[in-house]
Amino acid sequence: MPTRDPSPGALHRLSLSEPTDPIGARSAVTDTDIRRLVEAFYTRVREDDLLGPIFAREVAEWSRHLPKMTDFWSTVILRTGRYAGRPIEAHLRIDGLSPDHFRRWLGLWESTVGDEMPPEARDAFVLAARRMASSMQSRLFPAGGPH
Ligand code: HEM
Repeated sequence: MPTRDPSPGALHRLSLSEPTDPIGARSAVTDTDIRRLVEAFYTRVREDDLLGPIFAREVAEWSRHLPKMTDFWSTVILRTGRYAGRPIEAHLRIDGLSPDHFRRWLGLWESTVGDEMPPEARDAFVLAARRMASSMQSRLFPAGGPH
């Protein structure tokens, strides 16, 4: 493991910590850009017919969720190490989560990244999310697909 990598263990267990183009994205975006991206993304999520109701049910305090998600993406892309949570456990608690939700989540993420991020940073955000979605789904929906 490279010593320059401060990402916490939970991210390593998910193989979330190796952005495809960390250097390119790191020089192209700031924490402020990431906060704007996260806010734009969850605005779309909350308006979405499939995802909105789940988030409305599960997220008690958006004023805590948004900074947490900014810290998460800042850790993935900028390697700031500010996020140290347990993403798998958080999603295991969500009733009725299915691959359809992940497909929709990724679609919204990709369109938001396309609208909010400079072209040279987009791949890092999109590819990291795809890799995490795949890794999370193999834990959440083991062999045999949705249940
Ligand atoms: C690649 C896809 C996804 C990523 C990278 C991701 C990432 C995360 C992270 C890092 C957290 C914070 C966990 C914590 O430390 O408390 C979180 C929370 C949450 N996620 Fe996701 N997520 C993804 C997909 C989804 C999907 C598809 C849904 C539902 C449709 C979802 C719903 C939620 C909810 C409701 C929370 C809040 C849980 C709580 O506060 O207890 N996520 N997500």
